[in-house]
Amino acid sequence: MPAETLQLGTDAAVIAKAVAIWRRGGLVAFPTETVYGLGADATNGTAVAKIYQAKGRPQFNPLIIHVASLGIARKFGTFDELAERIADRFWPGPLSLVLPIKPGCGLSELTTAGLETVAIRVPQNPVARTLLEAFGGAIAAPSANPSGRISPTRAAHVLAGLKGKIDAVVEGGACAVGLESTILRPVQDEVYLLREGGIAGEKIEAALGISLHRPKADGTIISPGQLAAHYAPAAKLQTDVAKRPASGLWLGFGDCDGADLNLSPGGNLVEAAANLFEMLHRLDAMAEPGNTIHVAPIPKKGLGAAINDRLRRAAT
Ligand code: TXA
Ligand code: MG
Repeated sequence: MPAETLQLGTDAAVIAKAVAIWRRGGLVAFPTETVYGLGADATNGTAVAKIYQAKGRPQFNPLIIHVASLGIARKFGTFDELAERIADRFWPGPLSLVLPIKPGCGLSELTTAGLETVAIRVPQNPVARTLLEAFGGAIAAPSANPSGRISPTRAAHVLAGLKGKIDAVVEGGACAVGLESTILRPVQDEVYLLREGGIAGEKIEAALGISLHRPKADGTIISPGQLAAHYAPAAKLQTDVAKRPASGLWLGFGDCDGADLNLSPGGNLVEAAANLFEMLHRLDAMAEPGNTIHVAPIPKKGLGAAINDRLRRAAT
């Protein structure tokens, strides 16, 4: 945990400082036109795990990655013609696109919560743009508030919730839009509206000349398989297995002699969170038909709550 939270302005020296913190795996909150984001290097699993630790979020959700340009976005997501057209029309701006991950792009699986898609946006806010241009890569960022509290639209809101838990906040005044980004998922010729936000659905429909598939009134999405919002391994999973099982695979945590893989031999929850999705994928690939993946007990406190939540869902 950082000793103190730096409050940064926006001159050049300060931008360099924020970028240096990102490069060494730290957390910097920054303004966007929607809300302040709590940013970390999206390719560094340990850094992304710290986002969850700081927010006290008891669940892992896939995060939006923020980049400086469409050119950089293409390194992380696979754009078809329709995706290109939407990006061209609405970026930079308060719109996120969910696209297939570009193979080998280096994103941490914790960033995408193990999914095969990634949500990407190019923010419009000038401070965000300067920071992202200087960083050059992808910054994963949920809203910069403790879990369960309202989204911050000023640096002071960020500090009120997260002071002492993050390395720095970059001052950028009030957010112009004040609402989270609209999230779209283009699939072939169809576009699914996954979350209403800063750009109205009607405006998108008018600009693209299409009609969006909207969430149902109860908030659920009409969802073809590829829109699944949660990754679950194909193999059966059993939690709280303290000893090497007679058959199947064993995912360890802490001192687990004979484990097939170990989330964190030293029992570190940040490391375990960073490894979770990648190791589940690897075990899934190793599993013979009918095999069960057994998982060692993981403490339920701190980041362990989110790890246990995800394992519990995968087990049912
Ligand atoms: O305006 C915003 O979008 C702000 C600023 C900081 O950019 N960020 C934000 O992040 O609202 P967050 O983590 O609160 O919300 C991200 C949303 C979640 O509902 C998540 O499920 C969805 O994006 N999401 C992310 N990746 C996804 C994916 N691959 N498939 C479907 N939904 C995804
Ligand atoms: Mg949020």
